Amino acid sequence: MDSRSLLEKADAHLAPVLYRATRLVFERAEGCYLITRDGERYLDFVSGIAVNNLGHNHPEVVAAAREQMEKLIHICGATGYYESAIELAAELARIAPGDLDTVFFANSGAEAVEGAVKLARYVTRRPAIIAFKGAFHGRTLGATSLTASSTRYRQHYDPLLAGVYHVNYPYPFRSPYKETGARPYLAEIEHLFTHMVSPADVAAVIIEPVLGEGGYIVPPEGYLQGLRELTRRHGILLIFDEVQTGFGRTGKMFAAEHFGVVPDIMTVGKALAGGFPLSAIIARREIMAQWPPGAHGSTFGGHPVSCAAALATLRVMDRDRVVEKAAETGAYLKSRLEAIQRRHPIIGEVRGLGLMIGVEFVRPDGSPYPEAVSRIVELALSEKLLFYSAGVYKNVIRFMIPLTIRREDLDRGLAIFERCLERFEEEQA
Ligand SMILES: Cc1ncc(COP(=O)(O)O)c(C=O)c1O
Repeated sequence: MDSRSLLEKADAHLAPVLYRATRLVFERAEGCYLITRDGERYLDFVSGIAVNNLGHNHPEVVAAAREQMEKLIHICGATGYYESAIELAAELARIAPGDLDTVFFANSGAEAVEGAVKLARYVTRRPAIIAFKGAFHGRTLGATSLTASSTRYRQHYDPLLAGVYHVNYPYPFRSPYKETGARPYLAEIEHLFTHMVSPADVAAVIIEPVLGEGGYIVPPEGYLQGLRELTRRHGILLIFDEVQTGFGRTGKMFAAEHFGVVPDIMTVGKALAGGFPLSAIIARREIMAQWPPGAHGSTFGGHPVSCAAALATLRVMDRDRVVEKAAETGAYLKSRLEAIQRRHPIIGEVRGLGLMIGVEFVRPDGSPYPEAVSRIVELALSEKLLFYSAGVYKNVIRFMIPLTIRREDLDRGLAIFERCLERFEEEQA
């Protein structure tokens, strides 16, 4: 069936609620290229939204999944044990920050977040959760209650989860405070405790250690350390949502490592299984041991094929020094983007860690410029480069390139990016 007929069928039968950035019908993928049914090759700087960290269809991931499929596709953890989940849990315990050593598997990021919140409430017997303006934690009702990156994600879904309080995520480029640094943002949480909710009622603080969907924002020095100290002082569990930042994206295996902070609970997903659906909640044994059998569960969580694919993904990352290379490529990308910024004042800031880099677009008065982003993304698409936006003002282009990208592909993408910027500026002149 040709693309046009497929799209007609899609329009008739696929729910329109899932936003699709293009009308392209893809058939195959290799490395950092997506190939449409009509044989056109697109350079993919989206990577399935920060999932395909090793590029598309890594042969060792494909082989591991195939081998697992031929032996055992599904039994559900409730039936018993199987090797791929056990080995993967042990491997995650090995690479996770600090003493996080016990794993519960789910399927998606949102599910891991839901589970982490249930775990925190269960263990602390406290109701409240503190989350952040600009945060994105997923689309289930509980995760939506924590998400605050766009009203669109929340509208008409009230009443959401009770007891969720949002504070400002530290956003140095657009801070509401005159004082720079971490202090005013930490003080905000103390104010919350004075005016709104007793810390003794707070089960957890959940934070993305680098804000993802909200604009690829790195918190200032001392913020996450301060949050660690504050939560510990009040017996509040600290949850790091590393669904987007995890597995080398920031140039370290986990973003937590940049800050030397070990959370009590961590959620991971996205890149974990090289493109297969899999997520996990990772916590200290002492916390997980307080969550008794039956208090939580999943039919498909920790799927044998996904776990086998994840093991292969982590093996390749280890062997090929993918995380170190991501840090190197990230430094190169950042310096190239900063050079582009010097030539184009519509770029207000280039920021990020490793290969989690965002470019924020501003009008001459410094206000957000979302129209620039949507037009540049459109122009890039016409040159067969796929980009995705981010930011609460939708004025950030995020570079979610595979960690293993070849320099020539990256340079090609950067050349297209700058050309599109120039075309946009000409259109505005
Ligand atoms: C930080 C973070 N948490 C959770 C999620 C939700 O993940 P999923 O779409 O797999 O449910 C996302 C997805 O973008 C995310 O970036």
